[in-house]
Amino acid sequence: MTELPSMAVSDTDLDRIADAQGRMVVFVPENGKLDQSARRVNRLTRGALERCVESARFSKLKEGEALELAFPTGMLASAVHVIRLDRRANPEAERRAGAAIGGAAKGSQVLILAGGRQKLGHIFMGCLLRAYAFTDHKTGDDEGAGELTFMVSKPESCDADLRHAQAVADGVYFARDLVNEPANVLTTTEFATRLEALRAIGLRVEVLEEDRLRELGMETLLAVGQGSESPSKVVIMEWTGGGKEAPLALVGKGVVFDTGGISIKPAGGMEDMTMDMGGAGTVAGVMKALALRNAAANVVGIVGLVENMPDGRAQRPGDVVRSMKGDTVEVINTDAEGRLVLCDIMWYAQARFEPRGMIDLATLTGAIVVALGHENAGVFSNDEALANAFLEASSDEGEGAWRMPLGDGYARGLKSRVADVKNVGGRPGGAVTAAEFLHRFVKDETPWIHIDIAGVASLASASTLAPKGATGWGVRAIDRLVSERFEV
Ligand code: BES
Ligand code: MN
Ligand code: ZN
Repeated sequence: MTELPSMAVSDTDLDRIADAQGRMVVFVPENGKLDQSARRVNRLTRGALERCVESARFSKLKEGEALELAFPTGMLASAVHVIRLDRRANPEAERRAGAAIGGAAKGSQVLILAGGRQKLGHIFMGCLLRAYAFTDHKTGDDEGAGELTFMVSKPESCDADLRHAQAVADGVYFARDLVNEPANVLTTTEFATRLEALRAIGLRVEVLEEDRLRELGMETLLAVGQGSESPSKVVIMEWTGGGKEAPLALVGKGVVFDTGGISIKPAGGMEDMTMDMGGAGTVAGVMKALALRNAAANVVGIVGLVENMPDGRAQRPGDVVRSMKGDTVEVINTDAEGRLVLCDIMWYAQARFEPRGMIDLATLTGAIVVALGHENAGVFSNDEALANAFLEASSDEGEGAWRMPLGDGYARGLKSRVADVKNVGGRPGGAVTAAEFLHRFVKDETPWIHIDIAGVASLASASTLAPKGATGWGVRAIDRLVSERFEV
């Protein structure tokens, strides 16, 4: 498990600046005006900070970006990071500034001279998120997570923002760890065990085993997992911080590894399919964040944990299976397995919890990656108000999301010769026909959003707020949606 770096706020003490070990951070606004603590740094370094700020390189920085003064004279610090940031910057620039700090933090002590700045929430968040590193399987890499101290003029007024950022970042770390974990470690059983550990922070967690899933009629989910040695499971996480209101349901695809099954995938890049449980990872991350920040909302998270393997017992193309809803599905392609898992747990979520809204998250299709690349997740919805609220929340958090269409015309391609529906349409609009498959399992009265995160759950290169690998996409957007729309 990846630990958050330790982070604290303390009173400004200018006399600590000269002797502080490790790294130091100062913020300088666009006009180059130094605040009190920056002036101290400048004096100690005999004007080096001013020379840095007057340089052409500094003027070329984007807001939130940094220059590094290495081994400055007159101070014990090993480096001073000079971040260009106005007093009133936008959240994106503040997160970028935080990321510049978090990126430098790796295993070291960092003293951040934040002066009179009071709203540090986005800086804290950027800092925590960019400090993440998945090192569990790197032997000898025990640098530690780093220790950050923000020197401010009013520490008390930053406490709540710090605790909030830590709770949400903890949820993001949890999601990222799950997504980064290889499939030989994160089996369905291990996944369920890690979710059961969330009981310690006040979530109700229930694990449904195969016998129970069979009783419930979840045959399409079971069919996906039947070729694997790892037993299929459904895990239900409940947070009841709200009143008597019906919950919001979050539903996640948790395919711990997707070989494609009998419709096997090509070898090149197949290793990426360890992230095919990204939807379940995001759901788990949100549930953890809600519990840690003691959210005043009722939210239930349901994940379907299966492994899609080719085997003598695996399902075949052409098989017909009955979903919990009762609809029969012709399995044309065993690699279109995510929808077979989701349709059963979405039906279960509605049957058991009669939710006020339902959001499913899934690394569902390669087609969404073709459509939107790695910048945006695809958002499909039957409810304008809920969809718009989500898009606003994701935009506020800087998590890319783009609305995609639904429509009967797309659903028509799913007509089966032998069953009620088949699990794939043709290649055109593959992400939309997948969404239309799911739509069939949504009751008319349930406001619903389907989010296809295949392009955003894990990235091949580092982004502003994450190193390469898992992003934890959606934990912050959904947490924000909950706080803005579902809290009592
Ligand atoms: N898990 C994949 C989708 C995926 C692709 C996730 C790339 C992340 C990155 C999904 O189960 C899948 O295999 N989808 C097929 C569907 C097809 C057979 C209709 C696809 O997209 O090729
Ligand atoms: Mn697949
Ligand atoms: Zn898959």
